[in-house]
Amino acid sequence: MKINGGIPLHGTIKTQGAKNAALPVMAVCLLLRGGTLTLDNVPELYDVNTMIELLKDLGVEIKINRDEKNSQVIFKVPEDLKWEVSETLARKMRASSLVLGPLLANYGRVSLPLPGGCSIGARPIDLHLKGLKQMGAEIEIANGVVHAQVKGKLRGRRIYLDFPSVGATENLMMAASLATGETIIENIAREPEIDNLAAALRCVGVPVELEGTGDVRIKGIEKTSSGRERVIPDRIEACTYILAGIITNGHIKIEDIVPSHIDAILAKLEESGAKFKVKKNMIEIFPTKKKLHPVSIKTMPYPGFPTDSQPQMAAALALARGVSTIEENVFQARFLYAQELNRMGADIQISRDVAIIRGVEKLQGTLVKATDLRAGAALIIAGLAAEGQTVVDDMVHVWRGYEAIDKKLKSLGAQVELGVNS
Ligand code: EPZ
Repeated sequence: MKINGGIPLHGTIKTQGAKNAALPVMAVCLLLRGGTLTLDNVPELYDVNTMIELLKDLGVEIKINRDEKNSQVIFKVPEDLKWEVSETLARKMRASSLVLGPLLANYGRVSLPLPGGCSIGARPIDLHLKGLKQMGAEIEIANGVVHAQVKGKLRGRRIYLDFPSVGATENLMMAASLATGETIIENIAREPEIDNLAAALRCVGVPVELEGTGDVRIKGIEKTSSGRERVIPDRIEACTYILAGIITNGHIKIEDIVPSHIDAILAKLEESGAKFKVKKNMIEIFPTKKKLHPVSIKTMPYPGFPTDSQPQMAAALALARGVSTIEENVFQARFLYAQELNRMGADIQISRDVAIIRGVEKLQGTLVKATDLRAGAALIIAGLAAEGQTVVDDMVHVWRGYEAIDKKLKSLGAQVELGVNS
């Protein structure tokens, strides 16, 4: 994508449905037999399409109704499904691991090619597998494929997660839905996407008690029913546009947000002197004459500062009035974008898991490469503020998580255009 920087953004956009809520909520359909799951506000993204292809390949019939008001996806599940996941589809997206729990719970068997690592670090699923084993699954890994099976039904029990892993929480909640007896999972992830999954499980008849105390209680049921649920707004996409508005000293409104989902980000932005007003489900960003103050950030599991927003924040802090630091505590290596920002004139040094960001006067446009979707978002944000033209290559990463980002930015007055093979 080509970006001519230096234009203050102005106008109003609406967030997409959350990618990281849509993916687990779509996997809930694998808990059905001969039923229908209807989801509203499903974003149009590469990763969502990959999950749709993967579910179709397993035998789910899928209907997509998209119009400007709603994007609805209907999952019609037959009495019986395949339980082997295709290698090509599984390796396209780590979230394919989310079919483990529901397929094992519903069919007693699943074969899933192990998800590959990616540019932000290894993506092990040891916590997912440990929990499933504790529920009675027999698991072996051969030639990079996880083969899991259980004699009879998975058994509900108390499970403690060594780390509040989002994916492990989601897989085990779905596994518990059709297990015998009650499952209590402790030290679960508290991301809003977990609440969305709980709502989706309840809509197909699974009693889920989620009191925000860090654990979840699920009483396994015999058979799920059909249901309908809505995907929550994408909090990470929202913060990407908030930072685009701030870095270009623009005046924008972002509609369909849940303010409490971005509290950690708003607290940091307030600390750095950004001007904004939060209304019921909308945020308005105002231009300020002053540059951002430097801040120190530590990424943490929710409700801490989200790791998925640290690259975008680094781009904004590259032009702050002093030295900021970002400590990445969730993933092993999520600073690949820094060297790309430095090619634009930023001054970011990485020492182990800390990025030291010395604010500079300006950034210059040049050719940069997206290494993962949030890194791509950071480079786009930097390009919007840089002098001259920035060309962000490998946009395929960005399309995985940002619906129509070129159109949304154009509607905010940005001068962007897509290159031939983006
Ligand atoms: C989800 O990934 C999100 N993806 C990620 O968003 C997000 O960054 C992450 O949660 C943290 O919020 C989806 O929801 C599809 P984790 P997930 O399990 O579930 C380690 C984006 O940009 N770990 O909470 O994979 C793991 O290596 C993506 O939209 C284990 O060691 O995250 C990582 O260091 C990127 N063993 C940490 O925990 C396990 O069994 C957090 O992983 C599982 C995880």
